[in-house]
Amino acid sequence: MAIQTPVQQRSKLPDVGTTIFTVIGQLSAQHKAINLSQGAPNFPCDPKLVAGVTKAMQEGHNQYAPMTGLASLKQLIADKVASLYGAEYDPAEEVLVTASASEGLYSAIGGLVHPGDEVIYFEPSFDSYAPIVRLQGAKPVALKLSLPDFTVDWDEVRAAITPRTRMIIVNTPHNPSGQVFSAHDLEMLAAVTRDTDIVILSDEVYEHIVFDGKKHHGMATHPQLAERSVIVSSFGKTFHVTGWRVGYCLAPAALMDEICKVHQFLMFSADTPMQYAFADYMSDPQTYLSLAAFYQRKRDLMQSLLADSPFELLPSGGSFFLLARFGHFSDESDSEMVKRLITDYGVATIPLSAFYTDGTDNKIIRLSFAKDEATLRAGAEALCRVKPR
Ligand SMILES: Cc1ncc(COP(=O)(O)O)c(C=O)c1O
Repeated sequence: MAIQTPVQQRSKLPDVGTTIFTVIGQLSAQHKAINLSQGAPNFPCDPKLVAGVTKAMQEGHNQYAPMTGLASLKQLIADKVASLYGAEYDPAEEVLVTASASEGLYSAIGGLVHPGDEVIYFEPSFDSYAPIVRLQGAKPVALKLSLPDFTVDWDEVRAAITPRTRMIIVNTPHNPSGQVFSAHDLEMLAAVTRDTDIVILSDEVYEHIVFDGKKHHGMATHPQLAERSVIVSSFGKTFHVTGWRVGYCLAPAALMDEICKVHQFLMFSADTPMQYAFADYMSDPQTYLSLAAFYQRKRDLMQSLLADSPFELLPSGGSFFLLARFGHFSDESDSEMVKRLITDYGVATIPLSAFYTDGTDNKIIRLSFAKDEATLRAGAEALCRVKPR
């Protein structure tokens, strides 16, 4: 075993190393693989957005924005949420523009979770939740979503709640499974948290990417849940600009006060020119309302292209991810399968085990369809050639 340095011995996250995303990124770059792994679009954003940022910079909006965000942008966010979900958030006190959804998640957990607290979340999960909880000296409690539908077992949640439970983290539409909450899920979440002081942290970065005419069942649609929820969203996901690092949080004022205390020392404020550009851009609701149809076309294309592949696709109700099963034609682990897909077929995906802290392997891979049509076609063509093993 390698000898650890004193710094390594005192690491706050000793088991966190280079993520599988980086490993796969490197391997796929080496093999010039078609990249269906990353959740970042490979197509450009609307040129109007770039023009908006350029204009804001040229007009001299290059210094700190107000700590909680540009007033005009916060007003538009509050208006959007009121019109789509029927919830009223005071833009002055209950809307916070963050430097990405990731920062929103950190500020919310950092502001509200104490050492010794327990935080329930569901695996497979986005990778940042558990490490952020651990950095607060708190305990992440991972519950597994039930396959094949990746649904929450609410009886299990009820059983996992203890007097130390401070927060439950939910994510709908869900990365990596593409599953979405139903009205029933909201009712169950309301029921299990009733008469507790548990805060819900709701990661809704894919709120505008819900398919098949369904509506997004976010916390803002349920008054009883909204009262105890912090909702996190991402302009990066909504407007195809994941590198711009702007998102937002919504929460009742008492919760928001605590979140802002972290945000002001972590970031102080989000990027100024981007906020001007988003404020201008999202004054037309079509900019976000068109997103579901845009991604549904990509999902449908991918599903039809993969119909003759050996993989069994699981249904995706939202987000820009699809899961594909291979256990019926191969005994390989999901990581072995992903490596073989890169080296032998030139296509990069992500093993689902990367989204479990205990490495659970259900012989499933995740594909991202946030890609241009040529990439989707080339990726699907490679996946259709895969030979059983
Ligand atoms: C579920 C989920 N939450 C949060 C994020 C982070 O969003 P942002 O890029 O705005 O930090 C991602 C990005 O992949 C995600 O998939």
